[in-house]
Amino acid sequence: MILSVLAIIISYLLGSISFSLLIAKGIKGIDIRDHGSGNAGATNTLRVLGKGPAIFVLLLDALKGVAAVWIGVAFNASPDYWVPALCGLAAILGHNWPIYFNFRGGKGIATTIGVLATLCIVPALLAGVIAIVSIVITRYVSLGSLIFVILTPIALLIMGYSAPLVVVSIVICVLGIWRHRANIGRIMKGTESKLGSKGSKGG
Ligand code: G3P
Repeated sequence: MILSVLAIIISYLLGSISFSLLIAKGIKGIDIRDHGSGNAGATNTLRVLGKGPAIFVLLLDALKGVAAVWIGVAFNASPDYWVPALCGLAAILGHNWPIYFNFRGGKGIATTIGVLATLCIVPALLAGVIAIVSIVITRYVSLGSLIFVILTPIALLIMGYSAPLVVVSIVICVLGIWRHRANIGRIMKGTESKLGSKGSKGG
């Protein structure tokens, strides 16, 4: 029990390392939250700093999700998957509300990709392909992110995955929708920024 709690805390602390904030500060001396959409994530890094830094942010933010699940596996004493799944969730919570950056982080999608791809690669891949197609068609990254977090738990349910993965993926889905509430409003009004454009401030 103590080891499981420790693994979850370590995962939260790992998730709190926000690479868009670190890279934007390192490259340009800016706080990414004051630019573009104001989000501390890969999409906004693309807007503000360009492709190279954005790819780095995407990979590193995803990698911390992968690492958190591995930490959960390493510390897991039970045969079920609650601890790895909760560690993944803790990394996403850390990314969204990072302890090192005044609890003002991103929307958690890159980290979610890392977590879900490690926990359940087939459902995550299926949802990911549909999400990418939707981004290519609409050029709304936020819409693709929403499709990814919504479709993964549905795929997990249909494919009969175990309770820890289904429950945690539903929580991740709710979190993802909540963090994208401003994007949803803009998509409905037709004012959401498209891939390749500069983006509007305000989350
Ligand atoms: O992963 C975040 C993305 O879905 C939306 O980012 O900067 O357009 O709000 P942004």
